[in-house]
Amino acid sequence: MKFTVLTLFPEILESFFNSSIMKKAVEKGLIEYNLVDIRDFALDKHRTCDDAPYGGGAGMVLKAEPLALALDSVKASVKRTVFPTPSGVRYTQKIAEELSEEKEIVLICGRYEGIDQRIIDLYVDDEVCIGDYVISSGEIASLVVIDSIYRLCDGVITQESLEEESFQDTLLEYPHYTRPEVFRDQKVPDILLSGHHARIVEWRHGKRLEKTKKNRPDLWDGHDLDRRMK
Ligand code: ADE
Repeated sequence: MKFTVLTLFPEILESFFNSSIMKKAVEKGLIEYNLVDIRDFALDKHRTCDDAPYGGGAGMVLKAEPLALALDSVKASVKRTVFPTPSGVRYTQKIAEELSEEKEIVLICGRYEGIDQRIIDLYVDDEVCIGDYVISSGEIASLVVIDSIYRLCDGVITQESLEEESFQDTLLEYPHYTRPEVFRDQKVPDILLSGHHARIVEWRHGKRLEKTKKNRPDLWDGHDLDRRMK
């Protein structure tokens, strides 16, 4: 899987690709990345990439020409191109799974008030919103999308870890504990020290139900009873 990211701030993304599990995946050749600085495609000597919106209004808009040239340089029109934006469809695990099947994804990091609509019309396949809030950095939104996808790619993390996770079957995860057995008078639940595997599985499932009902009534209401009892 290759991530090609168009950004005005490549350094924000570079540190992610150079750390932790992602770094290992890149070193193993499981993940490739290409960070494209949009400013390199600006047309004037000041390397201008933004301008005031037609029709007035607050803020600045990312100009079409530098973005289009940057997109052309990576042949974005024949690749799956994703634009994280608060105006997109809600980004979910299902979309991450679908995108993880692609060989390459091109991401556009927005800034300011947004990007020229003609870029969306001409190049973008998916406009995705990572949550019902607004952040100022399109790089952060792109990182969320990249992180959710790369970990699903073969060989990056174990199948077992993926299978146990929240959202795989619409229940949240059970609580985790590690040593020490007592921390600030808080003891690890006895059941987890019992060695009784079947009872641990049952306890964990109960905790998942409890947590989902409490923290995510929206998921709970949509969860069918048969699967809940499993
Ligand atoms: N850019 C700013 N806020 C965003 C959001 N909630 N989702 C995707 N991209 C964004």
